[in-house]
Amino acid sequence: MIDIASLKVELESRIAASDTPADILKSKEFRELYASIPTLAVDERKEFGQKVNELKETIARAVAKRQEQLSAKELPAIDITAPFDVNAAMPALLPSDQGTIHPLMNEIETISDIFNRMGFVTEESREIDDQYHMFESLNFPKGHPARDDWDTFMTVETDASGDPLIAPAHTSTMQNRVMRKYHDNLENNQPIAVIVPDRTFRNEDLDARHEHTFYQVEGVYVAKGVHAGMLIATLQAFLEEYYGRQLEVRVNPFYFPFTEPSFEFALSCPFCDKQGCNICSQSGWIELLGCGMIHPNVLKEADIDPTIYTGFAFGCGIDRLVMMKYQIEDIRHLESGKLDFLRQFSA
Ligand code: PHE
Repeated sequence: MIDIASLKVELESRIAASDTPADILKSKEFRELYASIPTLAVDERKEFGQKVNELKETIARAVAKRQEQLSAKELPAIDITAPFDVNAAMPALLPSDQGTIHPLMNEIETISDIFNRMGFVTEESREIDDQYHMFESLNFPKGHPARDDWDTFMTVETDASGDPLIAPAHTSTMQNRVMRKYHDNLENNQPIAVIVPDRTFRNEDLDARHEHTFYQVEGVYVAKGVHAGMLIATLQAFLEEYYGRQLEVRVNPFYFPFTEPSFEFALSCPFCDKQGCNICSQSGWIELLGCGMIHPNVLKEADIDPTIYTGFAFGCGIDRLVMMKYQIEDIRHLESGKLDFLRQFSA
C-alpha cells in the first residue's frame, strides 16, 4: 500500500522545484491512490479515501502557492526611486549600455570649441565659492544693494572671514582668478583670453524660463587698447557661428558693478527674422546676455594697471542659447533627468 505521509513529502519537494506545478495534481501517484481504494477491505476504504482527499487538498494548496511565487518572479523589477515612467518602458531604457552625453554638455563642447578657435582658453568654475569672488573682487563692496540682485544661495559653512560660503550665482566669480592666472600673458604682449562655461545657482521662483541650477559662459579678454567694438564683434561672431547664420545684434545700456559701461545684449530672433514668434515673445529680439568693459577697480583687484590695459567681459546663459537652438519650451527639462526628453538628443 502507498505510504501517504512519505508521498506528501515527495510531492511537496517536486512542487517546490517545478515551473509547472499544476501537472503534479494530475500525476500518476494520485491515479494509483484512487485506483487502490476499491481493492481495500470495505471498512478501510472510508478512512483511506479521506486521507487521499486530504492529501489532494494539501497538494493543491502547495501548487497554488508555488504558482503565486512563479508569477511574482515574472514581473520586472520595480525601481521605486526611478523618475517618471522608466519602469513601464524598461526595454528602451537607455539608447546604449553606456548612456549618452547630456545635451547641455554637448553644447558646452561646441561653445568651447568656437571660442577656442577665436583664441580663448577654457577654464572651469566651482560649485562652492566665497563672497570675495562673488562680490568684493567684482566691485560690490559689503552692503552694496546690487548684491541682492543675484539671489545667491548661502550655505551654513563660513570662510576664514566668517562670511557664509555661497553657491556661485554667476560665472563672474572666476574673473579675478583667471586674470591672476594668465597675468603673465600681458607682460609677454599676449592678451588674457579665457572663457568659463560652468554651473551657476540662484534662489529663484521656478517657471518655464527660470531654473535654480543653470549654466553660464563667462568671457574675459584683457589687453592694450581693447574697446567695446571688439566685445560686440566677438559676441556677434560667436553667435553667428553657433546658430550657423547671420544675425543682427542690439546693444542696450545696462548696469553691473563690475563693468563700465555695461550692456545688455540682444540678438534678432533666429526663428522668425524679427517678425515676432512664440520664442521671442512676439518682440523679434531675444535678450541673451550681460556684458561690458571690465571696471578699472576689477582690473586693479587682479593687479592689472587700468591705465595701461583695458578689457571686456560677458556672461551668457547657456540654457537659454540651447533652448533657442532646439526650440525647447521649458528650461526645467534640462535638469529633470526626464528620459523621454533626453532620448531626443541621444543620436
Ligand atoms: N555676471 C552677470 C550676470 O550673471 C553677467 C555679466 C558678466 C555681465 C560679465 C557683465 C560682465 O548677470
